Amino acid sequence: MKIFLAPLQGMTVAGYRNAFARHFGGIDAYYSPFIATSEVNKVNKLLLKDILPENNDPAVKLIPQILGNNGMQFKVFAEAISNLGYYEINWNIGCPYPTVTSKKKGAGMLPYPDMIKSFLDKACSGNSYVVTVKMRLGMESPEEGMRVIEVLNDYPLGGVIIHARTGVQKYDGNVDLEAFIKMASLCKHEITYNGDIFTYEDYQRISMRIPFVENFMLGRGALINPFLPSEIKGNIAAPENKIDIIRAFHNEIFDYYRNRVSGDKHLCDKMMEFWSYMSVNLNKDGKFMKKLKKCRNISHYLELVNQLLGTDSVWTDAILS
Ligand SMILES: Cc1cc2nc3c(=O)[nH]c(=O)nc-3n(C[C@H](O)[C@H](O)[C@H](O)COP(=O)(O)O)c2cc1C
Repeated sequence: MKIFLAPLQGMTVAGYRNAFARHFGGIDAYYSPFIATSEVNKVNKLLLKDILPENNDPAVKLIPQILGNNGMQFKVFAEAISNLGYYEINWNIGCPYPTVTSKKKGAGMLPYPDMIKSFLDKACSGNSYVVTVKMRLGMESPEEGMRVIEVLNDYPLGGVIIHARTGVQKYDGNVDLEAFIKMASLCKHEITYNGDIFTYEDYQRISMRIPFVENFMLGRGALINPFLPSEIKGNIAAPENKIDIIRAFHNEIFDYYRNRVSGDKHLCDKMMEFWSYMSVNLNKDGKFMKKLKKCRNISHYLELVNQLLGTDSVWTDAILS
């Protein structure tokens, strides 16, 4: 069984991935947040900053992701990326945000199997890389996804990841396991399941319904509880060490941003994104989050975080047990 860390734009950047691998592990491959293609002959290195080998720990297996609807542009980007030493390149046809879908990109491409076909004719003609696909069940309905899978079956892809929601659902409602099963059964490529694994029990319940699937991608669940991927694999950290591990993880990410973000307020805002996930594990009666949100000053921020990491009673059992 393999576990992958899902890409989350703004969160799972190089510094986060490196720190996650060092302090928690349990992840077989990390997918980068998407890099959007554009009409260029040569790809500007700045666009590839997050995936440049010098910014990524060589021990961390990274799979770069591209968003776009033009197969030739994809090829130009994929070749530039493969020149950096990557072989698998992931194509995003799952992003549900209207700014993306209105341009027939991301999940906005799922209702157009012919467009996907002509995209792949060009994108798959490069031989220095293999394409994998990250998709949703459809934009509006799973029937769309079924037609897309029929197209994908005609290409030499390295695998297909399915987030078991439609694009219009965004992150609302439930994952549709029935539709996932139909789509996965039609698909000739290696399948990865994605969606709503927040606890070990979620993993057990979902994996029992889809015993033919060996790959699982975790996003928000791993960001909320970074111990979860290892726990799913049976490696349980000693409860008395967990806060120290979170502290080391936090400090590494804090240092990463301190070297990249200018001004106390920006740094506090960036760290709030980190806490927007980690704080799910804090007891609701704690006032820490309210105080953190008001923080504009780094010494005040660090004082609060030290308090937080020094007080076991503010953490829920989901983290401490
Ligand atoms: C804030 C945010 C940013 C995301 N950015 C990306 C992205 O860059 N590329 C992508 O394929 N999916 C992106 N996703 C989707 C996740 O990779 C994942 O498919 C989704 O969160 C469902 O998995 P989960 O229930 O395990 O979180 C994003 C999701 C969120 C919430």
